[in-house]
Order: sequence, then structure tokens, then C-alpha cells
Amino acid sequence: MGNHKAFAAAVLALSLATGSCTNTTFPYKDATLCIDARIEDLLSRMTLEESAGQLSHNSLTIGPNGTLTPGSSTSNSTDNVIGEKFMTHFNLRGDIEDVHLTAQWYNRIQQRALDTRLGIPITLSTDPRHAFTENLGTGFAANDFSQWPESLGLAALRSPELVKQFAEVAREEYKAVGLRGALHPQIDLSTEYRWSRIGNTMGEDASLTAELVVAYLKGFHGETFGKHSVTTVTKHFPGGGPMENGEDSHFTYGKNQTYPGDNFDYHLIPFKAAIAAGARQMMPYYSRPIGTEYEEVAFGFNKGIITDLLRGELGYKGIVVSDWGLITDTYIAGQYMPARAWGVEYLSELERAKRILDAGVDQFGGEERPELVVELVETGLVIEERLGISIRRLLREKFELGLFDNPFIDIDQADKIVGNPYFVRLGKEAQRAAYTLLKNEDDILPLRSNVSRKVFVEGFNATYLSALPSLTLLDEPSDADIALLRLQAPYEPRPGGFEANYHAGSLEYNVTEKARQKAIFDAVPISIVDIYLDRPAAIPELAEQATALLGSFGSSPEAFLDVVFGVDGAEPKGRLPFDLPRSLQAVEDSKEDVPFDTENPVFRFGDGLRYGEKCSS
Ligand SMILES: *[C@@H]1O[C@H](CO)[C@@H](O)[C@H](O)[C@H]1NC(C)=O
Ligand SMILES: *[C@@H]1O[C@H](CO)[C@@H](O)[C@H](O)[C@H]1NC(C)=O
Ligand SMILES: *[C@@H]1O[C@H](CO)[C@@H](O)[C@H](O)[C@H]1NC(C)=O
Ligand SMILES: *[C@@H]1O[C@H](CO)[C@@H](O)[C@H](O)[C@H]1NC(C)=O
Ligand SMILES: *[C@@H]1O[C@H](CO)[C@@H](O)[C@H](O)[C@H]1NC(C)=O
Ligand SMILES: *[C@@H]1O[C@H](CO)[C@@H](O)[C@H](O)[C@H]1NC(C)=O
Ligand SMILES: *[C@@H]1O[C@H](CO)[C@@H](O)[C@H](O)[C@H]1NC(C)=O
Repeated sequence: MGNHKAFAAAVLALSLATGSCTNTTFPYKDATLCIDARIEDLLSRMTLEESAGQLSHNSLTIGPNGTLTPGSSTSNSTDNVIGEKFMTHFNLRGDIEDVHLTAQWYNRIQQRALDTRLGIPITLSTDPRHAFTENLGTGFAANDFSQWPESLGLAALRSPELVKQFAEVAREEYKAVGLRGALHPQIDLSTEYRWSRIGNTMGEDASLTAELVVAYLKGFHGETFGKHSVTTVTKHFPGGGPMENGEDSHFTYGKNQTYPGDNFDYHLIPFKAAIAAGARQMMPYYSRPIGTEYEEVAFGFNKGIITDLLRGELGYKGIVVSDWGLITDTYIAGQYMPARAWGVEYLSELERAKRILDAGVDQFGGEERPELVVELVETGLVIEERLGISIRRLLREKFELGLFDNPFIDIDQADKIVGNPYFVRLGKEAQRAAYTLLKNEDDILPLRSNVSRKVFVEGFNATYLSALPSLTLLDEPSDADIALLRLQAPYEPRPGGFEANYHAGSLEYNVTEKARQKAIFDAVPISIVDIYLDRPAAIPELAEQATALLGSFGSSPEAFLDVVFGVDGAEPKGRLPFDLPRSLQAVEDSKEDVPFDTENPVFRFGDGLRYGEKCSS
């Protein structure tokens, strides 16, 4: 362990010795000066190329054994993007499989940045990493971090205190490996149930989301914003929920957002709360608004949305970073992905970059094209003062985070903080509590663990049952006393390496699947069903046939069994963060932008029984 401290010390000594490339006496490096003075000093020293580098924020991966990633046919090397493109903002892409190596790698990229002419430190950001989602475009499973339910599960618990606690824990674990920017919270409202990104929202209700986002930001920032903080990117302005036909705007068939209920302002409510609570960064969504007063171009290109509405009417003063990949066509997970330049597809890459800056966006997410910015300035299409406005905001964030004064982390501390037993226990407790009990016929739950039973299980690894010796596992439902089923909410599989991660389409199980499930219900006298609600499923037949029905929002098999058997008093404490509709037809007949408007829903927002309780909410 000691040799890592020695490494850090050696690194530091090296940086002090190599005074040829870093001038430690520049005023911007002087921690005793005020931040405004430091920003102006640094800005005055930056070349156009160094300035342009600040405006790109792209993905970075960890190289073999914690080294800097070498270049390949599909990516520029880390050495290149830091040393020659002068980029200093990156999001860590991919699972964290080894905390120690990640921490070592982080110090290496900071050292590489310190070795550049001006030594501007890296700000490393990330999509969520504390739950179960595994999708290159939206989040990574927890691995060694403490594991919590998805944000929908936090919303099911209706507790700002718990949300703040989650965010404080996530902040400590992020900081321990050098992550200083959260590309979340996602506060879109789930008013269109088919949308594939509901799982990482806080549900359907604007005032609940508004209340929780305040606690969320407070947890990541701390009471005041500073060197102890993780900065946050609140998304997706002005609310990505009302997707036309429930499709997603990562994809060409999902470009449009619609407001048939004239309910645009409802989606702004959580964003207003976030701004009042000190939101630092904001990300507009890929979509373009159809049939509103705004131009029908994607929000990141949309001056009416960014400059007039967000900065003007709502008085937002922070950073705006675009969603990933608005300029350059690319491949993600082997799938061709055209630039999400919806409504301005006809523009050249250079013109797209100009249009985004003209809209009032500060930084291009998912791009490493500083040369476009250089060209815009050199050809007079964008004036250099325009860059200064955004660079000041971006540099201020780095200074306030304390990155200039100490960019390095203590590698031994990373091992101690990430996944420590206390954080892990809090996450597990939240997984259990977030369970939402929708039906409990004859008070069948909690099951008594000392009764011997023959069980049929589905949807989880049956080896977890070895903790319950009274149970005998059967391969077929026919002779079972009880079925324990963990189901995924229905969706229609989509093709493509990337697209396949987005659960879209129908919210009903198909005929074959319904028949398969019915055969189990017919064969087994007692069936306990847990459905993972990453979208509001239309499942009246499950509500009818299951003996007990639980909704969950990201939980391990242990958490499931603990809740079912009431281990150590574990019980469901969640309440639905959205309605559960009667049918796909009811969803199709409802308006994309209007909450709680499907006909005769099966369960309502707020439903959730307690053990031993007859009626919900
Ligand atoms: C370092 O910066 C200080 C203050 O700006 C300046 O006086 C000095 O000449 C610089 N030294 C080198 C080696 O660039
Ligand atoms: C990984 O790095 C460590 C030291 O940082 C070294 O001891 C080890 O041999 C390296 N492993 C590989 C496979 O390169
Ligand atoms: C490297 O970056 C340049 C832009 O500076 C870009 O044109 C090129 O496509 C990138 N290469 C790869 C392999 O991503
Ligand atoms: C989006 O809206 C436009 C304008 O109403 C329409 O022409 C287009 O077909 C819609 N759908 C998609 C996927 O662009
Ligand atoms: C099982 O445990 C319950 C509650 O602890 C107890 O009342 C019951 O007698 C036990 N039954 C058996 C078969 O041991
Ligand atoms: C279930 O878990 C056991 C023990 O961890 C493992 O050996 C087995 O391969 C797993 N089975 C499946 C189907 O994943
Ligand atoms: C029906 O749903 C099941 C489970 O989701 C799936 O495996 C199957 O391919 C679907 N069948 C059809 C015809 O879509």
C-alpha cells in the first residue's frame, strides 16, 4: 500500500522538478488569490487551441492495468486528447472493475494534464454507478460501489432525507476514485409510459421530483459548493418525458417531443426547483419540440430554449453541457449512430458547432472536436469573446472544486472508502425498503421461513435459497406449493448493440408470455411475483392472478428474499412513483405530456401496502 503514496509523492516531486513545462508561480496557481483573479489570469495566458480544448467533454476509458489508453482505429489516445487537443473534461466510460487501478489511473491522467503547458487539471465525470442499470449510454452497475435502487426506488420512498443520504454516500465514493462530476440527476417526468428512460427518473409527479431533486443536489454539493463537492448535471432540460409515441431521441425514429396537452410548463417545475437549489450544470435533451412556440430543432441547438427560457426567463447562471454527440456521426457498441442533430441534420459539422454555441450552450458533450472551434474563431464565424463566456464558467467550476490546488487523490483512501460496509449496508436497506407491495392476498407475505415448502423459482439464481433450508427446489411448477417469480417489465426487444439496451415498445406481455405465466399460476397454489418496474407496466392479469405482487426498482436477489421472508424485519415501504396503466391502448390514448391521464389505471401513484395492512396509501 505504502508504495502508492510513494508513487504520488514521486509524481509530485517530478512535477515540481520539471519547472520547464509548469510555472508554479503563475498567479492562477496561487491558492491565496480569489477565484475571479485566477480565472482572468489563466484566461489571459491561454492560446486559442487551449481555449477550444475546454469546450469538448468526451468519454475516456481506463487503459490496461490502469495506464493511459493508447490510440486505436476507433479512439484517439488519452495522451493525444490531453496533450494535443488540450481537453480537460472527460466522462469515465465502462465499469469500474478495480478501484485501486482506477485510482492509480486517475492520478496518471491528472499528472499528464499537469505536464501540459498550463497544467489545467482534469474534471472527471460519470453517468450513475450506484444501481443496476448497465447501459453505455445511461449508467453502469455498481460493482464495488455501494449498490442502491435506481432513482425511481428512492422516489418510491418519498424521503428527501434518504435521497440526501444516498447522494452523500455516492459523493464520497465518487470522490474517492477522482470522479468530480455527476452526469445526473435525471429529473424528466415519466408522463409517457413507453419511454425507455423512465427507470432513472424520479417518476411522474412534478412536485415530488421537485422536492427530491433539492435533496439530491444538496447531497452531492454539500451545504455550500466547494472542494468537498461533486458537481452535478441536472437533465434533461426542459424535461425529456413527453416523447412522441414513447420513442427515445437517441434514435432517428424518436426525434420528436410533443405537447398535445399543452403541458410544457409542468415539465419545468423540477428544473425551477433545481435552479433555486443551486444547480451547477444543466443538460438539454436530444429531442426537438413539436408544435410549441419554440423552433423545431433539438434542444441543444435551440436558442429559444437555452438562452431565452433557461438563462433568461428562469435566470439560470450555471454551465450548459450538451448531450453526447450532437455534431459527429459515430459508432456506439458497434452500432452506427448519426449525430443527434435533429432538425438541423442538413448543417455541416462546423455549422452545427456554431449553432450550438449560438444557442448558448457552453460545452459539447461526447465530442472531441476542438479544431472546429478553432476554425470558427479563425474564420470569424464566432468571436473569441464568446468562447471566454463559456470558458470562465468551466474554469470557475474547476477552481471551486479545488482541482487546481490538489488534483490528486490518495489511493489507499480509495480502497477504504469505496464499498465500505456502512455504505453497502445503507444501499441494501434502501433496496429492501423501496419494494412496493401492490397485492397481498390473505396476508401471505411475509412468508414464514420455518415452514417446509416445495418451491418453483424463476428470474433469479436459486443458489440464494440455500440460506433457507426449509425450502425444497423443484425444476417444474407442477408439484410446487409456492412459486417465487422475479419478472422484467414487458418490452419489445430492439436490434443493435446499443439500441438493444433501451426497453421500448409495448407495456404488455405478449400472448405467448401471458400464456406461459398463466400456466404457472394455474399449477401453483401460491405465487409471489416481483416485477422490476423500469417502466410503468400494463399488467392487470398479474394483479389478478398473483397471490402477492411486489413492484421493485433495482434490487438484488438477497433483498428480494429478505422482503419476501421478512428477514430481520425487512418489509416493503415503497409507494408507486407513477400510475400503472390498464393497457397499452390506454397509454396510446393518453397524452405524452400529461401526467396521470390513462383511463382506469390498475394501480395509482402512491399505492403501496404494508405487511398486515388491508388498503393502500
Ligand atoms: C513564471 O511566471 C511568473 C509570473 O507570471 C513570471 O514572472 C516568470 O517569468 C515565469 N517563469 C517562467 C520560467 O516562465
Ligand atoms: C500492473 O502494474 C503493476 C504496478 O503498478 C505491476 O506490478 C504489474 O506487473 C502490472 N501488471 C501488468 C499485467 O502489466
Ligand atoms: C481523433 O480526433 C480527430 C479530431 O481532432 C478526429 O477527426 C478523429 O476522427 C479522431 N480519431 C478517432 C479514431 O476517433
Ligand atoms: C416529427 O414531427 C415532424 C413534424 O410534425 C414530422 O414530419 C415527423 O414525421 C415526426 N417524426 C419523426 C420521427 O421525425
Ligand atoms: C415458525 O415460526 C413461527 C413464528 O416464529 C412460530 O409461531 C411457529 O410455531 C413456527 N412453526 C414451526 C413449524 O416451527
Ligand atoms: C448461480 O450461482 C452459483 C453460485 O454463485 C454459480 O455457481 C452458478 O453458476 C450460478 N448459476 C447461474 C445460472 O448463473
Ligand atoms: C413474447 O415475449 C417473450 C418474452 O418477453 C419473448 O421471448 C418472445 O420472443 C415474444 N414473442 C413474440 C412473438 O414477440
